[in-house]
Amino acid sequence: MKPVKIGILGLGTVGCGTVSVLARNALEISRRAGREIRIAQASARDLRKKRACPMEGIQLVQDPYEVVRNPEIEVVVELIGGYEPARELVLEAIANGKHVVTANKALIAMYGNEIFAAAQKKGVMVAFEAAVAGGIPIIKAVREGLAGNRIEWMAGIINGTCNFILTEMRDKGADFADVLKEAQRLGYAETDPTFDVEGIDAAHKLTILAAIAFGIPLKFKQAYTEGISKLTRLDVQYAEKLGYRVKLLGIARRTNGGVELRVHPTLIPERRLIANVDGAMNAVLVKGDAVGPTMFYGAGAGAEPTASAVVADLVDVVRTLTADPNNRVPHLAFQPDALVDLPILPIEEVETSYYLRLHALDKPGVLAEVTRILADLGISIESILQKEPQAGEDSVPVIILTQRVKEKNMNEAIARIEKLSSIKAKVARIRLEHLNPDWK
Ligand code: NDP
Ligand code: HSE
Repeated sequence: MKPVKIGILGLGTVGCGTVSVLARNALEISRRAGREIRIAQASARDLRKKRACPMEGIQLVQDPYEVVRNPEIEVVVELIGGYEPARELVLEAIANGKHVVTANKALIAMYGNEIFAAAQKKGVMVAFEAAVAGGIPIIKAVREGLAGNRIEWMAGIINGTCNFILTEMRDKGADFADVLKEAQRLGYAETDPTFDVEGIDAAHKLTILAAIAFGIPLKFKQAYTEGISKLTRLDVQYAEKLGYRVKLLGIARRTNGGVELRVHPTLIPERRLIANVDGAMNAVLVKGDAVGPTMFYGAGAGAEPTASAVVADLVDVVRTLTADPNNRVPHLAFQPDALVDLPILPIEEVETSYYLRLHALDKPGVLAEVTRILADLGISIESILQKEPQAGEDSVPVIILTQRVKEKNMNEAIARIEKLSSIKAKVARIRLEHLNPDWK
């Protein structure tokens, strides 16, 4: 059989990882795919840069449009990242009848609806396993392995950079900025690390997961996004003392009112398996009505773990090159005409438990004032912990864990508490999820 010729756009961390894995495992890969996968051309901005992968037989060009217009190339692998020129390149590749593999979650979350519609029209595949949780085959697991289930909710640690930072802050008492630099050096962080630390990258991935889990269009703009840049070491340590770990979680959940789509730092009981996922590792909990809770764990970033997913997509594409376009696995798991436009719940309507840290004057009656406000708004307290005052300070940290309540009630409670003359600083609030297997 003739080899399938592919072109790679971008030879950075993931691009070079992909070239290396394809070269090293060439024989195994062609035994699986049924044909040899040959990289005919690759593009990068700087042609003089030394590449960390074997370049024999690959024509390196500077202009990525040369690759998407090359008539010999059947599959284009987009590993540039970001919105543009990635979007334009992918749409042109599709218009030229080429299949596309991408690791670009920003692109899929933001422009996936347009890209899949174009691919559908042209009868080509767009595969994006590497876009969510790096090397973990979570897209395939949800789209195919769990296809018999009604998915109820998913909760994932889906940003390796944040998980690495939170783990180092907890274990080594390290500073946020120093750990971020280390994550960038290791190649986990995005070109713009605000995407990682402000939760945007996780929201991109969550948007994709929610679409394939619930059969809804991609709705990135409606996701609630809060990152870890404002978390203090103090809160991470107090949470630990109370038996919880702080993780940046992406949560997608069906409710009667709509779909919850939210990314934020979350306290999780330390006995949960997912609370013990450390470093740059990722994990996704998926609750299906038939299978119950399942958890998928592995490397969420890095050159070869991500390449593992890119190459798996390439094998899938090559296997289906001759299949009837109408008999392929649909891009978003559900048939395009069977997607339903469920509303996304505004964060004010979402119910969670909370961790609150207040700085209260150390005098009688203060806690009574605070608990009165909580009671008036129907907020039940799970536990209260008062810490010793720091030397020279007249206020004490008070930690309150609450039961589940709507976010709008908590917003009102915090506003009222902050107005009390006995409360000295802004109230720190972190959402808390027990992630019980029977959570619906
Ligand atoms: P890198 O920044 O390491 O590599 C990007 C590559 O694209 C480089 O080769 C660069 O050229 C080229 N490039 C950048 N901008 C342009 C442009 N405007 N036009 C043409 N070429 C350009 O990125 P990564 O490999 O880390 O990421 C690639 C994709 O994979 C992204 O979508 C990312 O989100 C995703 N991803 C990354 C993971 C990771 O662990 N790094 C994990 C999962 C997904 P040059 O080398 O000459 O500068
Ligand atoms: N910047 C991303 C992360 C890369 O840290 O998880 C993997 O998508």
